[in-house]
Amino acid sequence: MSVAISQDLAASPETPGSKNFPPFSTSLELNAEAEERISHYSESKRSAVLPLLHIVQHRFGFISPESIEWVAKKLELEPIKVLEVVTFYPGFRQYAPGKYHIRVCRTLSCALGGSGELMDDLCKEFGIDRTSADPHHHPISVSPCGKYSVEFAECLASCGTAPVCLVNDDFHEAVDVAKVKKACSE
Ligand code: FES
Repeated sequence: MSVAISQDLAASPETPGSKNFPPFSTSLELNAEAEERISHYSESKRSAVLPLLHIVQHRFGFISPESIEWVAKKLELEPIKVLEVVTFYPGFRQYAPGKYHIRVCRTLSCALGGSGELMDDLCKEFGIDRTSADPHHHPISVSPCGKYSVEFAECLASCGTAPVCLVNDDFHEAVDVAKVKKACSE
């Protein structure tokens, strides 16, 4: 018997960024895309959990409790197993980011290159309050307008061009606030 996950475990609180994404819902198109991915794992369809979660996050911006239930049902898994995957990988989000989600590397080279100051400056520029941010449960902080969000990330594998960040899926080196603002207008 499948045990539903509690809202506390898979919290997906509304954020100002929620307006940037459609609410999770299933469709023929979504099911077809999922079935196509699952077909690559005929030995064990459970192995399709990462591809399915990527599909959900790409379409809906983050992984909601409803989407966890959907993925679990598709793969005949307990929802808690899917939630474990979501919480293990920092790339999966459980609540809505901004339209432009900025991930600032905080590992050694970038820290020495000023990533902490960069984060402070970005928050000031975009009016983001990070006081309630914590790396495990609430890593993402969203601006009141919902347009921007920030998060610290671990090494993004470009230590020689610190500080670096990702703006959505695009990589940027030797960044300052002006460069990030420009990236957010492209
Ligand atoms: S420390 Fe930032 S990219 Fe490696």
